[in-house]
Amino acid sequence: MRYVLVYWSRYGNGKKIVENLAERLERKGGQTQVFRTDEVDPSALPEADRYVFSAPTEAFNIQRDMRKFMKNLQGMEGKKYGIINTHAMKRNWLPKMEKLLSKKNMVKVAGVDFQMGKEAQSGNGLMEGWENRLEEFADKL
Ligand SMILES: Cc1cc2nc3c(=O)[nH]c(=O)nc-3n(C[C@H](O)[C@H](O)[C@H](O)COP(=O)(O)O)c2cc1C
Repeated sequence: MRYVLVYWSRYGNGKKIVENLAERLERKGGQTQVFRTDEVDPSALPEADRYVFSAPTEAFNIQRDMRKFMKNLQGMEGKKYGIINTHAMKRNWLPKMEKLLSKKNMVKVAGVDFQMGKEAQSGNGLMEGWENRLEEFADKL
C-alpha cells in the first residue's frame, strides 16, 4: 500500500505522531511519503492508496494552513483517507476535517485524536497510551 501523509504542526507533537505512523506503516510493508502542508501542492498530490491528514485545533477550528490545504485539494474524488487531530481541550475537531474532505468527495476510513498534556508547548504533550491508539489507527488504514 502507498500512503501519503500530510501534516501541519506548531510544537512538534503532530509531527512526532505522523513520523511514528509512517514508521509503523513501513514496518507493515507500506510505502510512505510525508509532507508538511507547505511542501506539497494540494492540487497535485502524489498517487496513493490512502491519504492521511494531521493537524492541531487552533482557535476553535482546524489550524488554518491545513484548512486552506484541504479546501485546495483537487482530483481526490473517491480517494480514501484517515485523519488525525491534536487538541488541548476536551473536544476534538475531527468532524470539521471530515466535513472539509467530504466536500472533495473523499472517503473516510479512520480517524483518531490525541488530547495534549501539559507539556504540549515543548513538544512533549503526548499522553500515555498514544502509541497504542496510533497502532489501532494504522491497522484501520
Ligand atoms: C494559537 C493557539 C490556539 C489554540 N487553540 C486551541 C483550541 O481552540 N482548542 C484546543 O483544544 N486546543 C487549542 N490549542 C492547543 C493546540 O491544539 C495544541 O498546542 C496542539 O494540538 C499541539 O500540537 P502540535 O505540537 O502539533 O502543534 C491552541 C494552540 C495555539 C498555539
